[in-house]
Amino acid sequence: MELCYPGKMPIDSVLGGPRASLLQEPIPGRSMLIQGDNLAVLRSLLDRSIRFDLCYIDPPFATGNVFRQSEERTSTISSSTSSGLAYRDQIKGSEFIEFMRQRIILIRELLTEEGSFYLHTDDKVGHYLKIILDEVFGARHFRNDISRIKCNPKNFQRHAYGNSKDVIYFYGKSLKSIWNDPREITSDREMEQLFRKVDASGRRYTTVPLHAPGETLNGATSQPWRGLMPPAGRHWRSHPDELERLNQQGLIEWSSKGNPRRMLYADEHRGKKVQDSWVFKDPPYPRYPTEKNMELLMRIITASSRPGSFVLDCFAGSGTTLAACQELGRYWLGIDQSQAAVDTIQRRFSETKPLVEYQFIRTEAC
Ligand SMILES: C[S@@+](CC[C@H](N)C(=O)[O-])C[C@H]1O[C@@H](n2cnc3c(N)ncnc32)[C@H](O)[C@@H]1O
Repeated sequence: MELCYPGKMPIDSVLGGPRASLLQEPIPGRSMLIQGDNLAVLRSLLDRSIRFDLCYIDPPFATGNVFRQSEERTSTISSSTSSGLAYRDQIKGSEFIEFMRQRIILIRELLTEEGSFYLHTDDKVGHYLKIILDEVFGARHFRNDISRIKCNPKNFQRHAYGNSKDVIYFYGKSLKSIWNDPREITSDREMEQLFRKVDASGRRYTTVPLHAPGETLNGATSQPWRGLMPPAGRHWRSHPDELERLNQQGLIEWSSKGNPRRMLYADEHRGKKVQDSWVFKDPPYPRYPTEKNMELLMRIITASSRPGSFVLDCFAGSGTTLAACQELGRYWLGIDQSQAAVDTIQRRFSETKPLVEYQFIRTEAC
């Protein structure tokens, strides 16, 4: 399947197009802020040995709007932004889709084999971008479509449900992209409800079935274990050898009717698996229009990179991704063409203690 529209450029031309001329050469092992059009800057990175374990982007959403910083914010930063202009979001229709596609192609090239990509967008253009992402990354590398609650419930006048969410598409470059399986804290009350049983040594535990839905036709997980078959239409969750090992370790509880169940202990519980609906509301007093929530970025970076990883955000805005990387010990590369964005990022880092060390690079056109 492919999305067809006029002006769709061949991949070779996207990769081979004009490069930005960087006024300074990137210093290896340093975080970096580059001011310029990300298309030309991304191409210029292709020619260097810089590669990323993670890229998050929050591009314009084709809203047709012009975004300005509040007067209070502009008066505290440079006079070049005294008009208050932050950025224009006025590319629409197929031109917008192609604008995004070209950047997505370059981002994929710049990821390591263990790399991941998160695209933050909304429900008006997201479905087109999902098709482009499947084309560029391959549908089998799609991981999640995350709903992000962005604000309190709204009371629109229009005849539709209120819109309080946007969407984040998550892809791996390959099937082995970094995944740290983040967990959410389980409250004491939830722990009590979850782990109701107590063993002879006083440890709290619960039990779960040893089988799961679906039959495997020839696999070992459909074979008898200790003379027992999995119930009809189900298979053993583990190979019978593994079930035997668990049983010998005393981790399988047998009911009086001879049904085995896996024992899970409260003191080994790592927290709840994070699901694909997240509540990370936008900051109430943003330093930059459409600024995202720092905890949202912390979650993404924690899940899909390691300490020391290099992380890219080529629509950096106020630098939320960069600040979250700094907190979590990741190197970062931020790109933005807006003077207001660059001023905001520089100011953000000038307030941090200890001072953040990074290289600021302009491109020739700036
Ligand atoms: C939605 S904002 C990003 C906000 C950011 N996530 C934050 O938390 O502050 C999008 C940013 O992309 C930048 N941008 C748009 N088109 C660009 C381009 N072609 N090259 C570089 N930056 C671009 C805009 O200047 C703007 O700062």
